[in-house]
Amino acid sequence: MPHVFVTGGLGFIGSHTTLVLLEHGHSVVILDNLSNAFERVFTHMKKLAGDKADKMKFVQGDLRDKALLDKLFSEEKFDAVIHFAGFKAVGESVEKPLEYYDNNFCGSVALLEAMRTHKCMNLVFSSSCTVYGMVEKTPITEDFPLAAVSPYGRTKLFQEDMYRDVAASDPSWRILLLRYFNPVGAHPSGDLGEHPVGIPNNLMPYVQQVALGQREFLRVFGGDYPTPDGSAIRDYIHVMDLAEGHVAAVKLIVEDEKLGCKPVNLGTGRGTSVLEMIKAFEENTGAKVPYKVVDRRAGDTIAVWAATELAESLLGWKSKLSLADMCRDQWAWASKYPQGYETPVKEDQQ
Ligand code: WQD
Repeated sequence: MPHVFVTGGLGFIGSHTTLVLLEHGHSVVILDNLSNAFERVFTHMKKLAGDKADKMKFVQGDLRDKALLDKLFSEEKFDAVIHFAGFKAVGESVEKPLEYYDNNFCGSVALLEAMRTHKCMNLVFSSSCTVYGMVEKTPITEDFPLAAVSPYGRTKLFQEDMYRDVAASDPSWRILLLRYFNPVGAHPSGDLGEHPVGIPNNLMPYVQQVALGQREFLRVFGGDYPTPDGSAIRDYIHVMDLAEGHVAAVKLIVEDEKLGCKPVNLGTGRGTSVLEMIKAFEENTGAKVPYKVVDRRAGDTIAVWAATELAESLLGWKSKLSLADMCRDQWAWASKYPQGYETPVKEDQQ
């Protein structure tokens, strides 16, 4: 089975994807510079991997360390790369654009140079629905016009453009650009999840903190949208479904010599409003999520959800987990680790 190089593999989606790769028989080397992850994640992953723990290795390092990349690619003979590594906070990218371009874009140039040198030209890229910009209609198909609306979004879009150019220059490249919609949930064990950094921008980490009593109430950004209940609609997808989508993508790039470079949406194809999500969370966890409807957030779109036909036809993949699964798994993680990976380790979690 393919030996896979996973950049940013201790992050939220990278860590869940690595475990699912192991379940499918792959072996994995993770590179992570720990700028936005904890080494403790690897400890949790090893516990969950059980007898497959020896099939994954963690290397602390940075994509811009060309000597390190050379060493890894020479020694490991990877069959494929999944590239997650990158800063991902929209607001932070506005304050620190240079750091975002350097880390996200320049890191990717170094990665592709090493892949080309070592003739490992099979890449799965962690892209985002953010490359569609402010969409007017939905569902979104992969041929929608692209327009980033933040430095973060531009680092994703510029990477996509680079990968398209690279693939056009040499047919040996096989590249899938996986455009995630709204990743939520956690590993069903409750031992792996998204680490809450500071005041969450995203909905579900904030809902989680309100439910834990760490915050007084949730601000619902906008109650006057032209939607059934007035709140905005998104396509929330379980992180375990996303992980399976990456395994399907690795299978395709290893097998399909004529792939070239293709974008694929990873979403459920279903829209859920903020108020519907709050209701689902309370119903499936028993926790309470007090909220107040406030003004719309600048830059938010009304309704966004994915067209999923291409993911089904090209990858043979579709999401399976429900909103209830997303809420239950997110709550199991939050309850067990209320401070994420900074939660004091209990006896039974050694
Ligand atoms: C979802 C909905 C908010 C917080 C973001 C990134 C995008 C991509 C996906 C990475 C919206 C509402 C939120 C809160 C709220 N990520 N909300 N109160 O904006 O769809 O997209 O995640 O690639 O780049 O921008 O996700 O979770 O921030 O918001 O009412 O406290 O929840 O208005 O309608 P978004 P989100």
